[in-house]
Order: sequence, then structure tokens, then C-alpha cells
Amino acid sequence: MVILGIESSCDETAAAVVVAGQDIRSNIIASQSEHIRYGGVVPELAARAHTRLILPIIQEALDKAGTTLDQIDGIAVTKGPGLIGSLLVGISTAKAIAMARNKPLIGVHHLEGHIFANFLAHPELQPPFICLLVSGGHSELILVRELGKYQILGRTRDDAAGEAFDKVAKMLGLPYPGGPSIEKAAKNGDVNFVKFPVARIKNGRYDFSFSGLKTAALNYLRNHKEEVDSRLADICAGFQEAIVRALTEKTLLAARDFDTVRIVLAGGVASNQRLRKQMSRLADAESLQVYYPPPVLCTDNAAMIAGAGYHYLRQGIRSDLKLNGYPSLRLD
Ligand code: KG4
Ligand code: ZN
Repeated sequence: MVILGIESSCDETAAAVVVAGQDIRSNIIASQSEHIRYGGVVPELAARAHTRLILPIIQEALDKAGTTLDQIDGIAVTKGPGLIGSLLVGISTAKAIAMARNKPLIGVHHLEGHIFANFLAHPELQPPFICLLVSGGHSELILVRELGKYQILGRTRDDAAGEAFDKVAKMLGLPYPGGPSIEKAAKNGDVNFVKFPVARIKNGRYDFSFSGLKTAALNYLRNHKEEVDSRLADICAGFQEAIVRALTEKTLLAARDFDTVRIVLAGGVASNQRLRKQMSRLADAESLQVYYPPPVLCTDNAAMIAGAGYHYLRQGIRSDLKLNGYPSLRLD
């Protein structure tokens, strides 16, 4: 079964062709550069850029895969959550192709796509597992009992982990997106130079909070202006470490509580090398296995959407042409 995946929920216009839910024949991603000068995504600009990019990107994905629309067995598209103007560009395009070519349409939850990136990278992976899903808009701990059955154990009370990276990078004058910028700047930094706090949350065993950390970083920078240049690596390393500590602690707690032997990382922040390393090291000490996709499948892409779409289409589950975009769609 050949699935064309389309993803346009935020600022990446992406299309991919995936065969049999595993074999990635093409995975084309256009990252919109128009947002860089604003230090964050501008929704109206994102929607306009998607409109401009979506058809050439789909054509490129088909060409690279050596296939045509006639040979496609289904079209999977992100239905939410995300920016509504951005989502609708992908959805309308997918619906138009589905109608014109009489092909099945499958609306996919964006976060389920992120989880499915792991099945593309590790075909042997089986539920149950704890998934730490960390991106620019989400920081969630999810118990995946079986494919398609998700229980959200905890989430962020304020900023998402990626958002915290992006905001602190902006304070430091580092380019957007902030996660990769901070990771790069933190290389060779001393994680003990500044000890940023990890929030303790009352009545939220699996919840996260990153706004206090963001404020702590802001206060530190205000009081130590002279260090921003000379100690940039150390400040970035300390900040990154605080996020990694919060994420690893809660994930391991959930794995212990629910007695799962596998931990899965997903979302843009899962491409962070320090997070991968620390999670693997700590999990290894408890004989737990850690899975994560390669970086290109961590950040937004359409192969993950095609992977999830395949899973549904195989079960005969599909959407009709009334499919709409849902900006705040829940996973559970
Ligand atoms: O999953 P994603 O591409 O888009 C959303 O669905 O949000 O995630 C983007 C987020 C951004 O906040 C970005 O700063 C963060 O993931 N990110 C990282 C890294 N690469 C991307 N954060 C930390 N370290 C990285 N290497
Ligand atoms: Zn995402």
C-alpha cells in the first residue's frame, strides 16, 4: 500500500511517500524561512507560504519516489492540532486530490504522527510503552497501551519544552528555532556553572512546568549581562540540563509506575542529543529500553503522517470529504 502523506500544521510544508507503512520512498520538507526575522511563527505568513509551497512539494515527493498520483492508495493528512490557516491548506489540497483521483482520505492527529515516527524508524517496536512527546507546542507523557489507544498521563502546565528553548534562545539573541541553537551553543559548556531550577508541581505527578525556568533564565541574564557572551556555552548547557532533568525524571517515574519496559521519545525536542543520551543512560540503569527516531523524523515531517495513515487505512478506517481542521484536537 502506497500512502502520500501531507503535513502543514505549523511552519513546515511537507509531503512524503511511504510504502507498506515503513519504507520511506521520499520525505520532502520545506522549512519556511519567513519567520526567522520575527523569532517565531507568524500564522498568516505560514498559511500563505503553505499555499505557495504545497503543490510543488507534493510533486517533488511523488517524483523522488518515482510514483504518480494514480499509483497512490491513499492520502493521509494532518487534521490537527495546529494553526487553523496552515492546517486548512494541507487538508483542502488532500481533499481535492482524493476527490479528483477517487482515492481514500485519512485525517491524522499530528501527535499520533510524531509517535508513529518511531514505528518508521523501529519496525520491531511494540506497545505498551511510555512516550515522551516534546515539541514546540506540546510536552506530554503518554501511556501507549496499544496502537491507537492513548492515555495522557501528564502535560505541561504552561510552556512546552520546545517553546522554552525557543523563548530563552530569543533572550540570548540566538536564531530561531531555539532548540538546535541552544544545543549547538551548549556544546563544551559546563552544566554546573549555573544550576537552573526544575519545577516541583503539586498534584501533578507527571506534569511539567517550564515557565519558572524561563523566568529564572531571564533573571539570571538581567543580573549577569557581562556573561552573555563570555559564558554563553555554560549558560546554555545549564538551561538545557534543567529541561533534560525535568523530562527524564518524570518519564522514568511513569515507566516505573506503569511497569513498562520501553520508553519512546517523539517530537522536535527528541532530536536533542543531550536528552537522548541522558534518557538512555538513566533508563539503562533500570534495564529499560529507549527508542527515538532520527532527527529528520523527530521534527515535523509528512512520513510520520503517512505511517499513521497506513495503520488506519489497513483497518478500513478513513475520513470523508467533510474532513475539517481542528486547531486543538486532543489525542485521547
Ligand atoms: O515537532 P516540531 O518540529 O514542531 C511542533 O510540532 O512543535 O518541534 C519543533 C520544536 C521547536 O520548539 C524547536 O526549538 C525544538 O522542537 N527542537 C529542539 C531541537 N530541535 C528542535 N529542541 C531542543 N534540541 C533540539 N536539537
Ligand atoms: Zn510537531
